[in-house]
Amino acid sequence: MRVPEEVLELARTAKGVTVLTGAGMSAESGLATFRDAQTGLWAQQDPSELATPEAWEADPARVWAWYRWRMTLMTRAQPNAGHRALAEWSEAGDAHLWVVTQNVDDLHERAGSDVLAHLHGSIFALRCSRCGQDADAVGEPLTEPVERLDPPVCVHCGGLVRPGIVWFGEALPQDALERAEAATLSADLVLVIGTSGIVYPAAGLPIMAHHRGVPVVEINPEETDLSDIATATWRVPAGEALPALLTALRENTA
Ligand code: APR
Repeated sequence: MRVPEEVLELARTAKGVTVLTGAGMSAESGLATFRDAQTGLWAQQDPSELATPEAWEADPARVWAWYRWRMTLMTRAQPNAGHRALAEWSEAGDAHLWVVTQNVDDLHERAGSDVLAHLHGSIFALRCSRCGQDADAVGEPLTEPVERLDPPVCVHCGGLVRPGIVWFGEALPQDALERAEAATLSADLVLVIGTSGIVYPAAGLPIMAHHRGVPVVEINPEETDLSDIATATWRVPAGEALPALLTALRENTA
């Protein structure tokens, strides 16, 4: 696959690259995105009934069942060629990569990347919804999705254990957001991969970079709300684009 000249040039000369990823980064690992019209999670489920603190209060067994199934799917999924290429690019050491993700899966880490910030939490980082203490009991693995499943109980206070996700209406982890902002301000290139760019404050990071004259490259088969601020757009899947970019970078430095 040919790498657009402008994308290659920006990547070749960058010393600090901040990579913001979204659900599209994990699409080729078989994990559904959120807003795809047919296959998107929010095309099939109402997010206000599953991904809000109110939904949890109203029906924790329904919410837990849904996230427990997603944990199962994420455990079964494997990092794709895009995840691996980012890890290899970072290891190559020609540029420093800061990986900032909206994804709650651990595919970047399993591919070998150090993730600077999980802006929307991590599905496997369980905690008590009452005392806030970490929890590690996830209960029995699911072999198929179920409508309702009682959440595990906190060993400290007896409260219900919830997934470590940032739900709509909840604040992002402040330390993660600050690290992401600092990396965006230190970067000389921002790669935006597989996000529709409509959820803030995550989508504000590339905009912040753009306002500071930092080039933004968007890798996404579709146009997004961030395409207008992108210096260059590359309309191909991440799992094809990133390995091709890595190969071209290696050829350029050989
Ligand atoms: N490679 C690159 N991009 C892809 C691929 C792919 N293989 N497949 C799909 N995409 C793109 C889609 O075109 C879309 O623009 O990924 C994007 C996914 O967008 P969303 O489903 O909106 O996911 P995301 O942007 O990560 O959502 C942000 O919303 O629901 C909340 O907290 C949740 O973190 C999530 C946030």
